[in-house]
Amino acid sequence: MKRKLIKIAKDTNLFLKKFIKKQNKSDLIIPMQYGLFSGGKKIRSKVLIDIGSIFKIGYKKLLIIGSAVECIHAYSLIHDDLPCMDNDLIRRGKPSTHIKYGESTAVLAGNSLLTMAFEILSHKDLDLSPKIKIDLINKISECSGHLGIAGGQYLDLSFEHKKVSKKRIIEMEIKKTGKLFSFCCVAPLILKGKNKNEIKKFESIGADIGLLFQVADDLIDHKGNSFTAGKKTGKDKKRGKATLISLLGHENTIKYASELIFRINTKLEKYGSRSKNLSETLNYILYRNK
Ligand code: IPE
Ligand code: IPE
Ligand code: MG
Ligand code: MG
Ligand code: MG
Repeated sequence: MKRKLIKIAKDTNLFLKKFIKKQNKSDLIIPMQYGLFSGGKKIRSKVLIDIGSIFKIGYKKLLIIGSAVECIHAYSLIHDDLPCMDNDLIRRGKPSTHIKYGESTAVLAGNSLLTMAFEILSHKDLDLSPKIKIDLINKISECSGHLGIAGGQYLDLSFEHKKVSKKRIIEMEIKKTGKLFSFCCVAPLILKGKNKNEIKKFESIGADIGLLFQVADDLIDHKGNSFTAGKKTGKDKKRGKATLISLLGHENTIKYASELIFRINTKLEKYGSRSKNLSETLNYILYRNK
């Protein structure tokens, strides 16, 4: 599992480096590369590739789509660390992008990474029909905007120091983190031209995986080690973040996460041994320490 993840990270970085190299130069490239390449597990690409392998889609295509996802993820982290959001100084064991390059540069590098995702998905080197490309871009836009990352980040900030119901916390976590995972789970089905019902099913599997991922991230913040995590831990409590841990406590949150894994695996049962890679990834997501 670890080896596969490292290979995916390496291949993704290589694709992105080549993609950037082919573009004209600009001063924002350096902070953009800092946000993209200063570490990062590339777990979203792994989930995309795991689902893609269930539907027998080629690695190269999945890697390119995953690279677009990683651009959006990198943008979301640069903005998440800004003083107006979580105000975090360390990311992946290094100074956050705004600490290294200044706030306005970090905002603009983030914006440029977001739009680079659309450049990658619409690029001629991605060998897909125009219809499929439009469907991918449509879905990734929905998952990133007010119904996805941006909307979830808004809720995350507006819930600080407030008593929030379990339902609303789950809604927030699914939006800010789950939706991008939903895109990863749905993209292979878009490539295969699957129907709306099947797409819906995989959207909900993605939301569950993203929720699991965010709950595990919250657990790392609660009990994890700053050095290993590469970011300051113990901050959610200080900032009064609404998390399942703040509501249910540590033990019950772990129980909730294990139940989530069970639920996702049940939904994947019909794919038999083809879903084995994804099941491994789910365990990694919950038991990781960074
Ligand atoms: C951190 O994401 C932010 C969340 C959505 C919880 P990752 O843990 O995937 O960050 P990197 O890319 O591996 O650093
Ligand atoms: C971030 O969640 C979710 C995003 C969409 C960026 P967190 O704020 O918990 O992520 P970390 O802990 O800073 O990585
Ligand atoms: Mg945040
Ligand atoms: Mg944060
Ligand atoms: Mg966190």
